[in-house]
Amino acid sequence: MNKVTQADFGTPAISTVETVQVEIDGIPTTVNAGTSIMRAARETGVDIPKLCATDSVKAFGSCRLCLVEIEGRRGYPASCTTPVEEGMKIRTQTDALAKIRRNVMELYISDHPLDCLTCAANGDCELQDMAGVVGLREVRYGFEGENHFDLPIDGSNPYFHFDSSKCIVCSRCVRACDEVQGTFALTIQGRGFGSRVSAGIDEGFLNSECVSCGACVQACPTATLVEKSIVDHGQPDHVVETTCAYCGVGCSFQAEMKGDQVVRMTPSKDGQANQGHSCVKGRFAWGYASHSDRILKPMVREKTSDPWREVDWEEAIGFAANRFKKIQEEYGRKSIGGITSSRCTNEEVYVVQKLIRAAMGNNNVDTCARVCHSPTGYGLNQTLGTSAGTQPFASVMDADVILVIGANPTDGHPVFASQMKRRLREGAKLIVVDPRKIGLVRSARIEAEYHLPLLPGTNVPMVNALAHVVLTEGLADEAYVRERCDTESFEAWKTQILRPENSPEVVSEITGVPAEDIRDAAHLYGSADRGAIYYGLGVTEHSQGSTMVMGMANLAMATGNIGFSGVGVNPLRGQNNVQGSCDMGSFPHELPGYRPVGNDEVRGKFEKHWGVSIDPEPGYRIPNMFDAACADLFKGMYIQGEDIAQSDPDTHHVEAALSNMECIVVQDLFLNETAKFAHVFLPGTSFLEKDGTFTNAERRINRVRPATKARQGKAEWQITQDLAQALGYDMNYSTSAEIMDEIAELTPTFKNVSFKLLDEVGSVQWPCNEAAPQGTPIMHINEFVRGKGLFIETEYVPTEERANRKFPLLLTTGRILSQYNVGAQTRRTENNIWHPEDLLEIHPSDAEVRGVREGDRVSLASRKGDITLKATITERVQPGVVYTTFHNPETGANVVTTEYSDWATSCPEYKVTAVEVTPATHRSEWQRGFEERAKEQGRILGSE
Ligand code: SF4
Ligand code: SF4
Ligand code: SF4
Ligand code: FES
Repeated sequence: MNKVTQADFGTPAISTVETVQVEIDGIPTTVNAGTSIMRAARETGVDIPKLCATDSVKAFGSCRLCLVEIEGRRGYPASCTTPVEEGMKIRTQTDALAKIRRNVMELYISDHPLDCLTCAANGDCELQDMAGVVGLREVRYGFEGENHFDLPIDGSNPYFHFDSSKCIVCSRCVRACDEVQGTFALTIQGRGFGSRVSAGIDEGFLNSECVSCGACVQACPTATLVEKSIVDHGQPDHVVETTCAYCGVGCSFQAEMKGDQVVRMTPSKDGQANQGHSCVKGRFAWGYASHSDRILKPMVREKTSDPWREVDWEEAIGFAANRFKKIQEEYGRKSIGGITSSRCTNEEVYVVQKLIRAAMGNNNVDTCARVCHSPTGYGLNQTLGTSAGTQPFASVMDADVILVIGANPTDGHPVFASQMKRRLREGAKLIVVDPRKIGLVRSARIEAEYHLPLLPGTNVPMVNALAHVVLTEGLADEAYVRERCDTESFEAWKTQILRPENSPEVVSEITGVPAEDIRDAAHLYGSADRGAIYYGLGVTEHSQGSTMVMGMANLAMATGNIGFSGVGVNPLRGQNNVQGSCDMGSFPHELPGYRPVGNDEVRGKFEKHWGVSIDPEPGYRIPNMFDAACADLFKGMYIQGEDIAQSDPDTHHVEAALSNMECIVVQDLFLNETAKFAHVFLPGTSFLEKDGTFTNAERRINRVRPATKARQGKAEWQITQDLAQALGYDMNYSTSAEIMDEIAELTPTFKNVSFKLLDEVGSVQWPCNEAAPQGTPIMHINEFVRGKGLFIETEYVPTEERANRKFPLLLTTGRILSQYNVGAQTRRTENNIWHPEDLLEIHPSDAEVRGVREGDRVSLASRKGDITLKATITERVQPGVVYTTFHNPETGANVVTTEYSDWATSCPEYKVTAVEVTPATHRSEWQRGFEERAKEQGRILGSE
């Protein structure tokens, strides 16, 4: 059985090269200078009793339980707030100390309900532990005095409750909220005996500023803040170390288990991406894995209007294989293909692209990363030589200036946002480039120096203008460029950027941002010692997404901001394994490791290993698959864990393509929107059942370990393997570790990666090979992966999608903290309480002229289609811009988005759609059709 409790050293680790020698209870020891006595003792194997200290927050010194004696000093200093000094001789156990500690505990216990046997924290309560440790035998003050026993429980948060009667006012929760999460939602109200923790004046946790990250719950030493799942199920008996399956931060977790029941997810302190922190999704929103909507039996049907028929695995696989074979006989080898999922493991993705290339005999494989970060892969590869971000997350702690472009970290990448906010509170400066006033622009103790609220679609002129200022004001790092970059390309880029159309004054007219702000922001970034760029889909999902990625790389190279800590160009990846799905060869032109399928040598290596010949011609990208389907050329698709009917742009076109196919195989947890067009449904596994790896936004390969067995009876890679075999290709793995071994053998950047290594060291960042056996946290240190950094000209080409009299507003889209992507998982959790439906954000002036009031249902129409949704009036968006999320299928946000896409990668232009908003009198035609289909599906399922 694995250990349930994670070690607590009492105070945070001090990182320094200086050490001091001390003696603790007669044991000589060497520790880092500045370490607290408490931590030094713990590192030496001596536990000092404590209550108000925990190693995730700074020491506070309030409980007086951790007192020690120091030779030559008077009194009893608190070990949590006293740093070690050279030669100190410390005693942690004396009669005098024991007496003081018992007294302290007597006081605490006299105001604590003694219901230990029925308390949810029984067995996991530090107050209970400390009573035992100090040898408490009596409470001389009695229990009859003034107390807090009758205070009510706040159960408003769906995941944890707050029982103030058990609170010892140690303020660990307050400090966790401030220091770890950075939300500052909690305070201690009142004084002396009346002091109580509060989430807001007269409001419960639910209505407070709290974002439900759970850091306070984790920090609480008593049952005051406790997970409802623990109240329901009791304490865990073992843990399984795994990785969150939501966003690209890739937080490590301990799945705390009772038999095969998850009772709590606790972020791992050793997790190198999250260091013990998490957000509401990873910590709490895992209930979807056992939701009753999950499909656990394979199903097939002749036609999509037929009822689903539950069958065994053999029949389902045989049905799919026969259909695929028949289609290929009739329409040719290239008439089928598939899509890999950025939510699945590297191993699961790898076998799907192998199935398509080796068993289907073509390269018609693409991935949902196509619709999010494909421009990142292209742009960074062209300029720097590798299709990934340059830094580990921890690098942000060395940044002086942080430039966030088209990303909303507090909602999309919350744990990284907390780390970034820590650095900002320490003094780093922030520039936000975003059409919307995202949370980072102004929040507790954080204020951006500059917010450049540009119009959607004008990123490229903005980055050009920033570069223009850097070049004209002498802020370029000429020495760095001479030494590290291709100088010819630099000169050509410089000539382009210095042209008058890239001056802040001209760009101001295009972007709507005052020239002075552009100039000042450029000055701030250009003169930083360490300037770091972080960006998201607000950069990539544009017709010039790739150009913008290259523009940012140019800017970073020109200012010497790549190749060391605190700098870089860093994509914040959306889904948990976007990086991995791209690494695993999910693109139609690239084999694993981003190597061209048209290259004979590369292809030959795979052909030899796989024992087949591989088509040298790149296959269809996702949009090409849809076009070919509408043209009767593409007739069958294997869709792994992706809901393209909801997530891809121009829903009408996608639905037309799906309706025109003869075999759609959906492998997923739930009957999603795409499954309405499917003929075969192969039930997938949740992350709690998977054995494999995810690769996060910092190229970190993390292990995903099964906490429970596959509920539908089969690992997903086995399903794919069975299908490959049924199609006549002998795929033959017996474990997912074997799949990783093959990946490592065939992919130079993964050469040293194995489950064994990951189990030993926790995680590694690729490249991980002979040159870097333990991985590569920072890339391009002495030289760029491509040799010399290449500057690429970034001419601004406005999108075809323009506002006009008919569609005068620009719609941009994004996500919200509590929901995730198409919502298939989070909508099946209590997270719905925070975001039950997608809302349209509209500026007060735009709302007023349209007669739209708060909460009104409005029609959102583009030249592609129209939907209705509720409006919310807010100055978060600027006049002329509206914004919505896309988490609910019934909203149909992609009914209005267009067919425009990035010129290099076909990544859809989700972020710019010209629209009009009017008060709605009825639901849109698409939504009525959606409801009809939902009813029909219900009827079909109900008829089973
Ligand atoms: S759950 Fe997170 S945000 Fe909410 S009070 Fe606790 S620490 Fe603060
Ligand atoms: S709620 Fe828990 S962590 Fe917060 S002050 Fe009370 S006992 Fe301490
Ligand atoms: S930040 Fe991302 S990876 Fe971490 S817990 Fe939240 S959703 Fe999961
Ligand atoms: S643990 Fe040191 S004073 Fe509370």
